[in-house]
Amino acid sequence: MCDECAVRTVDLHFTYPDGTRALRGVNFTARRGEKVAIIGSNGSGKSTFLFHLNGILFPTKGKVFINGEEITKKNLDNIRQTVGIVFQDPDDQLFAPTVWDDVAFGPGNMGLSKSEVEERVNNTLKMLNIEQLKDRSPDNLSGGQKRLVSIAGVLAMNPEIIALDEPTSNLDSRSSSTVMRLLHNLSARMKITLIMATHDIDAVPLFAERVYVMSEGRIIAEGTPEDVFSDVEAIRNSHLRLPRVAHMMEILHKKDGMPTGNPYPLTIGEARRRLREICGLRN
Ligand SMILES: Nc1ncnc2c1ncn2[C@@H]1O[C@H](COP(=O)(O)OP(=O)(O)OP(=O)(O)O)[C@@H](O)[C@H]1O
Ligand SMILES: [Mg+2]
Repeated sequence: MCDECAVRTVDLHFTYPDGTRALRGVNFTARRGEKVAIIGSNGSGKSTFLFHLNGILFPTKGKVFINGEEITKKNLDNIRQTVGIVFQDPDDQLFAPTVWDDVAFGPGNMGLSKSEVEERVNNTLKMLNIEQLKDRSPDNLSGGQKRLVSIAGVLAMNPEIIALDEPTSNLDSRSSSTVMRLLHNLSARMKITLIMATHDIDAVPLFAERVYVMSEGRIIAEGTPEDVFSDVEAIRNSHLRLPRVAHMMEILHKKDGMPTGNPYPLTIGEARRRLREICGLRN
C-alpha cells in the first residue's frame, strides 16, 4: 500500500489493437503534491502511460490507483474530476466553437453557477495571458496558442492531479516560462500533483522532484534528477541527453580536467555556484 500516493500503477501493460506492446510492466508512483517528470525517446510509451491515468485507456494487464482507488468503468466520472490530462496534441482536446466555450466546458459540467464558471474561465485565461483569444475559434489558432488554450481547459477544472504531455512544445520562451511558473505555483500553493512527460531536458531539474526514464514501454531508471542524470551512460543509451549546462560541465571535467564534481550541476544556478567555488570566488 501507499497511503500518500496520489497515483500508483502496478505492473501496467498495454497492447494496442494492432498488436503494438506499448507498456510492458510499468510500476509508478506520485505522492500527493509531488512534481514528477517522465522522459524517454519517441515511442517509449509516455503518452500511452498518461492516457491510463484517467481511464482514456484501460490496462491490458495491471492496475491504476488514484488516491488509493482503482480506476474502473464505474468511477470514471469522479476520476476525471480528480485527474486532468493535457494532451500532447491540442487538436485532440479542443472542440468548442470559441476559446471561451472550450475553457468553460469542464467547469460548466461540474455543477458550478454561471458566475462561478465565468470567474474561473476569466482567471485561467488571465493566468496564461490569453484573455485576448477568448472569442477566437480554436481551429484558427497557432500551435502555441492552441497549447495554451488546452492547458487552460484543464486548469479551469481545478483538478487535484494534472498530467501534462509535452506542455511546453511549440511555446515561445515567454509562454514556456509562464506555463512552468504556473505549474510551480500550483504545486507550491495548492499541493496539486503534477506529472509531466517532456523532451525539454533542461526543464527537468528545474521542475521535477523525481524523474522516471522510459524505454520501450518499461521504466529503466527512477530517482531524483541528480540520481537519474548521474548515470550519463544510461541516459545516452536511452537516446536522451544531459541538460546542456551539465554537458558543458562534463566537457570542462573531461577535456580540461576541471574538478567539477559528480553529479555534474544540472542547472545554471548550481553550475554558477560550483564554478565560483572552483575559481575561489567568495559566495
Ligand atoms: N493508436 C495506436 N495504435 C498502435 N500503436 C500505437 C498507437 N499509439 C501509439 N502507438 C505505439 O505505442 C508506442 C508508444 O507510443 P507513445 O505515443 O506512448 O510514445 P511516446 O513516448 O509518447 O512518444 P513521443 O515522445 O513521440 O510522444 C509506440 O511504439 C507507438 O508507435
Ligand atoms: Mg507522446
